[in-house]
Amino acid sequence: MDTLRIGVVGAGAIAQRNARDTVASGVATIAGVFDINHKAARDMAHDLSAPFFSSYEDMLKSEAVDAVLLSVPHHLHRSMTVQAAEAGKHVLVEKPIANTLSEAEEMIKACNANGVKMTVNYSFRYLPKILKAKQLIEDGALGEITGFQTCIQQYKNRGYWSGASSNSPDNWRASKAKCGGGFLIMTACHNVDYLYYITGLKGTRVYSEYATLGSPAEVEDIISISYRMGERAVGSFSASSIMRGMEQKEERIWGTNGSLLIHPEGLEMYSTRPIDGKRPGKVHKFKKFPNVSWTAEWVKGFVNAVRSDTMPPVSYVDAWENLAFITTAYQSMEERRALTVPEFISTQLESVA
Ligand SMILES: NC(=O)c1ccc[n+]([C@@H]2O[C@H](COP(=O)([O-])OP(=O)(O)OC[C@H]3O[C@@H](n4cnc5c(N)ncnc54)[C@H](O)[C@@H]3O)[C@@H](O)[C@H]2O)c1
Repeated sequence: MDTLRIGVVGAGAIAQRNARDTVASGVATIAGVFDINHKAARDMAHDLSAPFFSSYEDMLKSEAVDAVLLSVPHHLHRSMTVQAAEAGKHVLVEKPIANTLSEAEEMIKACNANGVKMTVNYSFRYLPKILKAKQLIEDGALGEITGFQTCIQQYKNRGYWSGASSNSPDNWRASKAKCGGGFLIMTACHNVDYLYYITGLKGTRVYSEYATLGSPAEVEDIISISYRMGERAVGSFSASSIMRGMEQKEERIWGTNGSLLIHPEGLEMYSTRPIDGKRPGKVHKFKKFPNVSWTAEWVKGFVNAVRSDTMPPVSYVDAWENLAFITTAYQSMEERRALTVPEFISTQLESVA
């Protein structure tokens, strides 16, 4: 299979890892680098032995570029994806897909109208422990899912908000207009993605409370969400970037036949059924997982979809649904009431020629 020639756009914090893992995927090569910060782009192009492009338009015109990998601030995802699609380039875009559903829909329409594929970097679902959790649930470890709880607490210092660890320091993360929101849309969107992925359920009704209590930002640094997934399961989501000294990161999912705990060291499962060769009625720990590059796995899945003309494993539907949950959660607090999460209606987006 020919490698996909990917133009890297954005040479900031995550772009470095994305480019490295794209090469590691073995199915793609770096066809060039562009960033409005020319120095950062030149340095990165040099490190990758790839061409430097001095404008996005030049990269999009190049016949040596099949796709672009956009690692740029959220408010640019829409326009840069639409431009790429119109130039006939496939698009790998960082999460979230965009800041609003209407922006996301414009991107999806542009890709469909121009016959190019799009994926969004929800690659944490390729973590081996997440794949294992999905398999255990599919094998029936939990029975019918009835409850779930996500808890992510960490601390982001002032430097985070001014982009101190980036090659291009900028405070876009603190801006509601540029980032679309705070900890939920920026970081915890991954947890929303893989909870949907492993349970096969989607948020249906949501109510949230959020605030900015300890950060130099317009966007939230703490959020608590109550929600329903599917018809019956009820759960909660608690996240913040202002908890000092006691980082916490765990997901619990439970059902009529068992419970699952996902934490930084691995997984724990209790089931009333014999699952995965384990005795029922006991807690089993799964700790040893191989070290894999989840971003490289995401790139591999995308390249395979381009080659086989199929929907990428992290599809635009997944990305739209993720954003639908996030934006509805934000809206619910603004309206002080529980809201129904909208469903993706494909015909509206796919009927465009
Ligand atoms: N998947 C993950 O785990 C993960 C982690 C961190 C960030 N991200 C996402 O990656 C994206 C970028 O985040 P970051 O932390 O790397 O930000 P960053 O600020 O470090 O880098 C952004 C880069 O975009 C460049 N840029 C800005 N405007 C541009 C334009 N018009 N054209 C070209 N380049 C432009 C900046 O100069 C900068 O180098 C965001 O979508 C963010 O949510 C994903």
